[in-house]
Amino acid sequence: MKKQRLDAYLAHAGHGSRQEVKKFIKKGRVTIDGIVCKNAKQMVTDEVIMVDGQLCELPPESIDAIIYKPLGYACSHDPREAPLVDELLPVEWAGAGVQMAGRLDRQTSGLLVLSTNGQRIHQLIHPKKKIPKRYQIEYMGKLHAKAIQKCADGLHLENEQDPCLPAELTIHDDKHATMIIYEGRYHQVRRMIAAVGGEVVSLHRDKIGNLELPEQMEPGDIAGFGDEETWEVLLQSDK
Ligand code: URA
Repeated sequence: MKKQRLDAYLAHAGHGSRQEVKKFIKKGRVTIDGIVCKNAKQMVTDEVIMVDGQLCELPPESIDAIIYKPLGYACSHDPREAPLVDELLPVEWAGAGVQMAGRLDRQTSGLLVLSTNGQRIHQLIHPKKKIPKRYQIEYMGKLHAKAIQKCADGLHLENEQDPCLPAELTIHDDKHATMIIYEGRYHQVRRMIAAVGGEVVSLHRDKIGNLELPEQMEPGDIAGFGDEETWEVLLQSDK
């Protein structure tokens, strides 16, 4: 690994900004090969570096993963909006440039894709690619008799210039429905359900492309993948 300054190494490993890490280096919280180092300019390469006794590792070169986003977490990097999905990720991923595909509202749970591969993320979220995203909905109110057809025709949401792409609404009973959409507008499913007479009580995304959120995953769980096959399954579109 290339030689770099201790403060740069720690920032890259997700321990904060250069300024922040300089402060805790000065406080003697960092050791190199077991010896306290208070010099932020110390050059390091393959030494064992610890912060507060915890091994400090650089992020992998590329990251591809899915996470089961729990309710209550924001898909944002702004600490004022905490709790953040970022807080659920390994600390060393912080400096890796991980992007999220298809953000979910704070009050939506489910499948979220994380990757350092910007091109793949773009493919996954661009409406032109028409990648299906499936949502399980609990709703209240009474859906219009023509709700399914209206969604299939492309609903025109308030304050939007263009109608939505045709979406598939399946109504299971007077509380549960499934919606498949092919784009990701602001609060899209909630607004579509409102436009056809209902109100979303809970929302959960369980499938992107052809990839279902694995049953064994619990809220907050992360599963890494690096294989092309998983990307192919994710990027599968019926359109
Ligand atoms: N539609 C919504 O309304 N919210 C989400 O989080 C995703 C889709």
